[in-house]
Amino acid sequence: MQIPFLDLKRQYKEIEDEVTASIGGVLRSGAYIVGSEVEAFEQEWARFCGVNGAAGVGSGTDALILALKASGGIREGHNDEVITTPLTAGYTALAIAGAGGVPVFADINPETLTLDPEALEKAITPRTRAIVPVHLYGQMSDMQGICDVASRYGLIVIEDAAQAHGACSGGKRAGAHGHAAAFSFYPTKNLGAYGDGGAVTSNDLKLIERVKVLRQGGHPFALQTNLIGHNSRLDEIQAAVLRVKLKYLEAWNKCRKRLASVYRELLSGGTLKIPVTYDLESHVFHLYVVQHLERERLRANLAAQGIETMIHYPFLLHQQPLFCSDAQRPLPVAESIAGKIFSLPLYPQLSEAEVRQVAQVTLNFEATV
Ligand SMILES: Cc1ncc(COP(=O)(O)O)c(C=O)c1O
Repeated sequence: MQIPFLDLKRQYKEIEDEVTASIGGVLRSGAYIVGSEVEAFEQEWARFCGVNGAAGVGSGTDALILALKASGGIREGHNDEVITTPLTAGYTALAIAGAGGVPVFADINPETLTLDPEALEKAITPRTRAIVPVHLYGQMSDMQGICDVASRYGLIVIEDAAQAHGACSGGKRAGAHGHAAAFSFYPTKNLGAYGDGGAVTSNDLKLIERVKVLRQGGHPFALQTNLIGHNSRLDEIQAAVLRVKLKYLEAWNKCRKRLASVYRELLSGGTLKIPVTYDLESHVFHLYVVQHLERERLRANLAAQGIETMIHYPFLLHQQPLFCSDAQRPLPVAESIAGKIFSLPLYPQLSEAEVRQVAQVTLNFEATV
């Protein structure tokens, strides 16, 4: 049996008629950029996240850049330092640099693999201005711990929620904890468009208004505001697709959790380290990331049986030529897990039989080492 790491065609088949109808509606409307679909989606997305407002933008990377600028987390020409995790998509740090800031990396919690509040506090310098915690693989960061540190030092918190649509901690969803949050709607995400897309969420409606000015920097109104703007808008077709898919997001997240519990039941107690979650609400399993000392041999074994796996992420950002600096401290926890992590297939349309097959091949390998 061939088991692809991700097969988005299966999801499309479930919603083909609805999506085709909604895209047709946009095509017939004659309005293609920031129109009624985007406005309706922004309201629906804000409601889903439990915040006062949302602004649709061109990508998750742009959402981070615009949120960092609109919140004052990064100021023009100040080289403000922004602390984040080394274990994330490169886009997190690229966005910090792209907004004019300096990414600084702090170590992660060895169990949850998200930014560790104690390590974060040690990385603060007089130049630190903001924190970008990443809700990695679908799991919330320790927002209580991070927000406590932030408020003691007067720092701005921008959540990178690109992988955590619908994850929850302390009764609040991803996107509702920091000063603002950035979402990606890249097609593979838990809520994915059929192209690029992103959104900023916040309880601060003035911040959302600033994002709306910044995303449309060539607009006469934007030119009068003294802000160097961008051109980064969510388009009507993507918004229409996202509105259809949003209706399914909770059910799809439930499927992800159910399949993760099948993996957990079958793989617990062996040599493979399975994901540790704070609780069931906190993780929406964008990815199912496990650890094994013999990662490459195990991946080759799975590949030989037609099972695709991936590594998220093959490099730690503080070790990349673009981001490494003499001032950066070693990050022993992240460095100790980097060679062990890899991702097993997990998406709502994967069948339980496929999950059992992946687990069986893994267990067979474990029996040989
Ligand atoms: C954690 C994280 N941050 C930011 C991004 C950037 O999102 P986008 O690809 O929509 O620009 C991604 C997506 O790759 C991501 O996974």
